[in-house]
Amino acid sequence: MDDDRIVDAEEVSADSTVLFTVREGFDEKEVLLVRLEDGVAAWRNYCPHWSDVRIDKGSGAEFRDDELVCTRHGATFEVDSGHCTYGPCEGAYLEAVDVEERDGGVYLTDEDYKFDHLGPKSDRDLSSGRIGFDGA
Ligand code: FES
Repeated sequence: MDDDRIVDAEEVSADSTVLFTVREGFDEKEVLLVRLEDGVAAWRNYCPHWSDVRIDKGSGAEFRDDELVCTRHGATFEVDSGHCTYGPCEGAYLEAVDVEERDGGVYLTDEDYKFDHLGPKSDRDLSSGRIGFDGA
């Protein structure tokens, strides 16, 4: 369904990330899209080390040797598995969000979320301490 179309596939490049916001019930959650060799992947936009720290701060995440970097304490994450390979949360994983690339677009296919909009959460400035907090 077009409601789930996030962005044109060509907008997702290998050297940056695309930030978008989904709804989980009444809550907004940020998600980042990354380009893989054979498609795309999406991860919830918070660090497993400190859940109030975003990987993509709004202008694309940083990369080092093809891995995502959390700039707060330097943790690195594999783009295709979300696995933290180095840093204070080594061994942890980013939380996956299901997406699919087809017909020139990238679509949200995760039943737990509804696509809301491209870009950061609408209340971002008011909730800097709460991202990723879901009580789990
Ligand atoms: S908050 Fe990300 S590495 Fe510490």
